[in-house]
Amino acid sequence: MCGIVGYVGPRTAAPILLDGLQRLEYRGYDSAGIAILTPERKIEIKKTQGRLSVLLDALQGSTPPGYLGLGHTRWATHGEPNEINAHPHADCDGRLVVVHNGIIENYGSLREGLRAKGHHFTSETDTEVLAHLIEEEYRGHQGPDEFVTAVRRALKQARGAYALAAFCAEEPELLVGARLFSPMVVGLGSGENYLASDIPALLPYTRQALIVEDGEIVALDREGASIWNLEGVAISREPFHIGWDLEAAEKGGYPHFMLKEIYEEPQVIANALRGRLDGERVLLPEVDKLDLAKIQKAYIVACGTSHYAGLVGKRLIEEFARLPAESIIASEFRYSNPVLDQNTLVILISQSGETADTLAAFRLAKESGAPTLVVANVLGSSITRGADAVLYLQAGPEICVVATKTYLAMLAVLTLLALDLGQRRGLLAHSQIAPILQELRDLSAKVDRVLDGAEAIAEIARRYADRKNFFFIGRGWDYPSALEGALKLKEISYLHAEGYPAGELKHGPIALLDPEVPVMALATPGPLYEKIISNIQEVKARRAKVLAVAAEGDKEITHHADEVLWIPRTLEPLSPILSAVPLQLFAYYVARERGCDIDKPRNLAKSVTVE
Ligand code: F6R
Repeated sequence: MCGIVGYVGPRTAAPILLDGLQRLEYRGYDSAGIAILTPERKIEIKKTQGRLSVLLDALQGSTPPGYLGLGHTRWATHGEPNEINAHPHADCDGRLVVVHNGIIENYGSLREGLRAKGHHFTSETDTEVLAHLIEEEYRGHQGPDEFVTAVRRALKQARGAYALAAFCAEEPELLVGARLFSPMVVGLGSGENYLASDIPALLPYTRQALIVEDGEIVALDREGASIWNLEGVAISREPFHIGWDLEAAEKGGYPHFMLKEIYEEPQVIANALRGRLDGERVLLPEVDKLDLAKIQKAYIVACGTSHYAGLVGKRLIEEFARLPAESIIASEFRYSNPVLDQNTLVILISQSGETADTLAAFRLAKESGAPTLVVANVLGSSITRGADAVLYLQAGPEICVVATKTYLAMLAVLTLLALDLGQRRGLLAHSQIAPILQELRDLSAKVDRVLDGAEAIAEIARRYADRKNFFFIGRGWDYPSALEGALKLKEISYLHAEGYPAGELKHGPIALLDPEVPVMALATPGPLYEKIISNIQEVKARRAKVLAVAAEGDKEITHHADEVLWIPRTLEPLSPILSAVPLQLFAYYVARERGCDIDKPRNLAKSVTVE
């Protein structure tokens, strides 16, 4: 995600920037940095690897003087989280600086073009390309309008997502910002103005703000802010008043990080796909590093929610790549004496990249000479070091202890991986992939539709929040969703919930059913639909209440279920992505009804670094 803050005004900029960064640290904490224009018109950059506290220690209270500046706290996407890759980034002569939040998809080709023109790069980041692009466009020009125009021209060449802020040594009272798919807000003060990724950074200084919209560029001086689109057409916008307190602002106005992160899911899916779909092909250059000709089998190893993503991944890989795959819980895998050799691909999934059991499985795979492919969210985390290939979720930090948005990102990335493997194995013609890719592109809008129905789910949750035991059942593609739905509910509401393959219910657990035990049945369209309806009948015969996750337009289900949580129709292999959302919302609203500590459930930690 990354956090950006900028200041122009009569006050010393550094303390304001550092304070803003502290309030944005939830957006990333791999490295932090500030750039200040000194009274001698020199740009001074201070940056360090690690949390903001490391930067504060390094500064020891001595910050560069100056009234114009930028700050950044990083959540790495391109390039290791070290000091060189930390923002701000400068051009060749150190006459302009840039901070950025997002991903520039075409940074490779842009960098090659700039190198050919003599630009010298010091970092591995996509952001540095923007600094040099602006330098190229600004060369030979002068004046505030020219700098804004240079930023605008540079951005027209960039593909991807960005919130960007920049200033140059020639313009001591000009801060430029721009936005495309990453947030940016302007704070309006009296004789001073601010730029930030999010409202918390502005709160101590002003309550008047302007939202910068996608595709817009903004110029701030001490007196005010002007906005244009990327064609240079001026846009007028009314400021709004910020009514939130600090806590509400950090959560984007949501009562909990969990809900905020669920509402980020449409964007998270778009980010997971970003740069990885090219017309009718999946592009995962990371997979080039594996010798696929040798691979005869895949193990998918993970814990908790990541394991449930792995269960879906197994099916996706078998479906699209026809490669035998097995998904195993890491703490079992490591002690199961698995048959591992150079023909067995071990895929490890971990949001944090620090889970002890998954790391142990990773080491075991490496010692056995098996190729490793890691799916992770945290760049540079332990599990990504030494892996043969790494696919990042690009989901940004997840603050709530329980996983929500990263589960969807895992499913999206595993779908891409399975399609990529299928392509490479020559199994998928373009005409087969095209409708799947189209559906993937449509998923963000479909998740949005589920979110539109959140109030109805909250109402259902209210009616069932006093029950003590739940079953979640599903078959085929729906089975991992049942497991994940049950896990979400038990983690945050402390209710007993059991996920079960629907066909297995009658082999024992059905003895537990009575009118007090609700059963959540996953009943998405597909060849097993009639089978799950039969299982629902078995449940109803024990007078248990049935809640169903079903696809819009399914009239049949309304005859069998007491309550329906609706999702839009999609392709069967993609249905776990949509099914997860109402189940997360259901768990959330049950827990809220029960007054639980949703973001920090008892006994749980975000990253389990012990065995
Ligand atoms: C559940 C949850 C955990 C994690 C598990 C693995 O909501 O968050 O079950 O999925 O601890 O964590 P990572 O993915 O970081 O290895």
